[in-house]
Amino acid sequence: MATPQNPQTFLEGIIAKRDGEELSEQFYSRFIHSIGEGVVPDYQVSAFLMAVYLRGLSEGEMLALTEGIVDSGKRIAFPNIKLPLVDKHSTGGVGDKVSFLVGPLVAACGVAVPLTAGRGLGHTGGTIDKLESIPGIKTQLSVEEMERVLAQAGWLIAAQGPELAPADGVLYRLRDATGTVASLPLIASSIMGKKLAVENDALVLDVKFGRGAFMAQVERARELGKAMVAIAEGAGRSCRALLTNMDQPLGFAVGNSLELGEAVKLLRALPGSPSDVVEVTLALGAQMLILAGIVEGEPEGRERLEEAWVKGWGYERLFSLVSAQGGDVSFIEDTEKFTEASKKTAFKAPRDGYIIAMDAYQIGELARSMGAGRESMEDEIDHSAGLVFSAKVGDEVEVGEELVELHFNRGSESDYLTRVEKAVLIGDEPPEELPLILEVLK
Ligand code: URA
Repeated sequence: MATPQNPQTFLEGIIAKRDGEELSEQFYSRFIHSIGEGVVPDYQVSAFLMAVYLRGLSEGEMLALTEGIVDSGKRIAFPNIKLPLVDKHSTGGVGDKVSFLVGPLVAACGVAVPLTAGRGLGHTGGTIDKLESIPGIKTQLSVEEMERVLAQAGWLIAAQGPELAPADGVLYRLRDATGTVASLPLIASSIMGKKLAVENDALVLDVKFGRGAFMAQVERARELGKAMVAIAEGAGRSCRALLTNMDQPLGFAVGNSLELGEAVKLLRALPGSPSDVVEVTLALGAQMLILAGIVEGEPEGRERLEEAWVKGWGYERLFSLVSAQGGDVSFIEDTEKFTEASKKTAFKAPRDGYIIAMDAYQIGELARSMGAGRESMEDEIDHSAGLVFSAKVGDEVEVGEELVELHFNRGSESDYLTRVEKAVLIGDEPPEELPLILEVLK
């Protein structure tokens, strides 16, 4: 194989990538730092992004780009935490409230879980927006605060601040403006750049595929998962990725306080309740315990998590986190306290049959229009807006049965109901059952 090129100027790098050359580690470490400092003109960064979009990156280049993104900012370490540190990350979904369950449960099993998370992106929700439904909760934490919360609660949820991987901020803004968001190596290095900037021993990834995922096709999602595992391993972290289905929303609630309420109720209930949220939580959590060296295999991991769940230790850890991050814990004790939207309306089944699809992409976009997400970065989130489903794909329904409750403060009820009708399809036969968790990539 040809040796990677080592261009001395950024322009030479653009030309080499345009022509499909592989670029050296030194090139990435020299220039990604400069991008983070804002000294490379936007037009050159944009041209480089398009060249990467069209030509792709080798595994070595993806690692070098990711390391460059990490080195553009601060590295966060927790020298006083002696427990194994394991993080979890989802590539983005609709109704995904798993972090609020898996974080405290894994922490209750003796692992420190420093979750750094983002805000909603496009049609997908963000863990930080959801957590901020709790009055008083602080999500911008200093390194000292992160360490204190980890020591107190065993886990934390912190927003990825501007000091973390600033080059990703520049690249992301330009990707959005140049039609290059959907590039696999750019997504992988963007996610991993932020994840690897925070100290951990291991990382478990929830890579979504299906209608509501960024990578709808399973083959592309698998490729993304493999790329991210390779980057993590190349950077010396243990990593596994689960491929999970995002054709329909996860759980029953979509929208910030509605999702948090669902998560809290699930954490208080027994894990036996039939729920896709429970299944994804146990599967991800078991992998986290394996990588932390706490258990040997998945069955033992699930047992430990279920014990923590049944004994209420997960709930206790959630409570401790909210308290340690300055939130009003009475909202966790009584989720009915979350402010309700001023308007509610029900969508009823227009006919008898089986639910054959609940299009997660359209539902995510609808929740965003209702105020649960942002149309532009400056928009304020409406924490009370969203949808609560009372059925899932495969369920048999009768005409007139309530299937969805819509919660909103703005917009047109009839428009929302029309959009739900397009997203929730009812047919004569039950659909083929698709696996929720397709495989574990190592
Ligand atoms: N999440 C990120 O942080 N970056 C991407 O490119 C896509 C999802």
